[in-house]
Amino acid sequence: MSGRGATFQRLSFGETQDGHPVDLYVLTNKHGMIAKVMTYGAIVTELHAPDRSGRFGDIVLGFEDLEGYLGRHPYFGAVIGRVANRIARGKFKLDGIEYKLATNDGPNHLHGGLKGFDKVLWQAEPALSRNGSGVKFSYLSHDDEEGYPGNLSVAVTYTLTEDNELRIEYVAKTDKATPVNLTNHSYFNLAGAEHPDILGHELSVAADHFTPVDNALIPTGEITPVEHTPLDFRNSRTVGARLRELPGGYDHNFVLNRSRKELASAAHVYEPTTGRCMEILTTEPGIQFYSGNFLDGSFKGKKGAVYGKHQGFCLEAQHFPDSVNHPNFPSIILRPSETYTQTTIHRFSTR
Ligand code: GLA
Repeated sequence: MSGRGATFQRLSFGETQDGHPVDLYVLTNKHGMIAKVMTYGAIVTELHAPDRSGRFGDIVLGFEDLEGYLGRHPYFGAVIGRVANRIARGKFKLDGIEYKLATNDGPNHLHGGLKGFDKVLWQAEPALSRNGSGVKFSYLSHDDEEGYPGNLSVAVTYTLTEDNELRIEYVAKTDKATPVNLTNHSYFNLAGAEHPDILGHELSVAADHFTPVDNALIPTGEITPVEHTPLDFRNSRTVGARLRELPGGYDHNFVLNRSRKELASAAHVYEPTTGRCMEILTTEPGIQFYSGNFLDGSFKGKKGAVYGKHQGFCLEAQHFPDSVNHPNFPSIILRPSETYTQTTIHRFSTR
């Protein structure tokens, strides 16, 4: 299928362990960018962007085939839900009821639990628009799934636009009050996914504050200025410049400078050797910057690459981690009368 230079193709990508077929959708635009997304985990498996001389490279970490994704891996390219990041002790209270979620990160709940949205099969339909070619993934998360209340219907639409953007639009509805905090967990390396590290990437984040965490990466509840800390990315700096001052590296939620819900620029990344730039715009109040600290060489990725520490980074547009247990953080509670929406755009260019 095609329109205005955009093309759309569906391929078979194998089967899950229990025999369900998995499809891979290939989106292209008139500039030759390619995004590949699949029905398992609504995962972005490949993203090809040009460098300053027009040479294309795949800039997201991942596997060549479905097998890799079906095994244990750190959420490469996946949609994360029902609630991204950590919930302390897997517990929260809502309308006087205490809920107990699946725990999968020591005593805590991480990225939706044992079987989060990254490990489920999504229904797909083409979503061609005047912006470009896209695919809409839908999933019905049932009441009590991983311990969450309410049946939640979720749709995530990926569009590769003619302006070299990967646009991600999320919509969700529930039949009982429930927390919802969706994101995408792609690992980027703008020099190319096989490049050994991201320490030379230059990053800026539109955030004067961040949410400090304890040793288990649970927010303390404070909202602290980035000034005089290694988290000061208000002006562009390389990721490596102050990374060693933090145990392990960056794994922090930044509080974006905004007072209301609007689609606005949140972060910008520039890779000097290839000239590739990525700007992230989002409607969310926060963005998690994770410098691939837990990548340890145990994942054999695309083109035989063995992904080591800091080989990729994530910028996860989201509400703040553990929001359900911090009344001073923006609420992530969705009620049956409301609709959850989120838009995040990854805009690519070169310089
Ligand atoms: C997020 C978390 C990290 C880690 C990764 C996955 O970015 O904040 O602590 O769990 O996901 O490995």
